[in-house]
Amino acid sequence: MSTAQTYVELRDIVKTFGTVIALNGVSMEVARGQVMCLLGDNGAGKSTLIKTLSGVHQPTRGEIRVGGDSVNFATPRDAQRLGIATVHQHLAIQPLMSVTRNFFLGREPVRGWGPFSRFDMKSAHSIVRDEMSRMGIDVRDPNQPVGTMSGGERQCVAISRAVHFGAKVLILDEPTAALGVKQAGVVLRYIAQARTRGLAVVFITHNVHHAYPVADAFTILKRGRSYGTFDKREVTREEVLQMMAGGEELDALESELEQSDSPAAAPPGDANEASSTAARDGQESQM
Ligand SMILES: Nc1ncnc2c1ncn2[C@@H]1O[C@H](COP(=O)(O)OP(=O)(O)OP(=O)(O)O)[C@@H](O)[C@H]1O
Ligand SMILES: [Mg+2]
Repeated sequence: MSTAQTYVELRDIVKTFGTVIALNGVSMEVARGQVMCLLGDNGAGKSTLIKTLSGVHQPTRGEIRVGGDSVNFATPRDAQRLGIATVHQHLAIQPLMSVTRNFFLGREPVRGWGPFSRFDMKSAHSIVRDEMSRMGIDVRDPNQPVGTMSGGERQCVAISRAVHFGAKVLILDEPTAALGVKQAGVVLRYIAQARTRGLAVVFITHNVHHAYPVADAFTILKRGRSYGTFDKREVTREEVLQMMAGGEELDALESELEQSDSPAAAPPGDANEASSTAARDGQESQM
């Protein structure tokens, strides 16, 4: 079911790796100027879904539509050509290279022609400074190796690079996972800016508190299936959290933790043995 503004559409995507069914008929759509948060537990299929949309994986079944046309991406480059920019979970960044070199990697502005052309470092530096300052980051030295930047700043280099090179769709796989509150805030602000600039944004996270302030809608994945897409106006933060974790699982965990908190609450004898084994198994399956 696509609306007039839908820009990217995944229809009934199935992806198997040998006998592993990573995605089992997942549909999702994103409009320009919309932030779609893709939520779900570890192994739910979030990265696999966006890798399918980025041309890293080819779907086993299903259809991808961009701007109304059905597309087949043989490589990530095919997706990039259509303006789909992806910042993957494990950032492809060269830690020893300067901020500017990282920003332009493979797309350097040059001066002169043919054999006399060379990297135009001066204009490259000023583009990087401008783009980063739009995100509220003051790059003191564009020659600084990117590996010495903070996690949040690195994410911002990757995001601003995508926007600068004309992305229409921005996909971010867990950009805030390793960040503190303040740095996550910087990245979240930039996601909101990308939306204002008219990009269609897919934002993957585990963290409902990061998702909720910037999301327009949520798609929740569970074990390779979609649990549904919900407009932000229809659901509270608590409801999203409950759907993500499964309310019963959270309630069970809460009472389990309450019990293990107070030694006095531990039941004696065999019953104790059985319940602590169950608790341990439960914990292991969470890892
Ligand atoms: N290349 C692959 N080969 C085999 N199995 C894979 C491959 N990629 C993913 N999977 C499996 O598909 C399932 C979904 O993995 P995926 O990485 O998409 O999960 P995720 O939702 O991104 O999890 P996380 O939150 O931990 O990043 C997992 O069971 C994973 O082991
Ligand atoms: Mg992942």
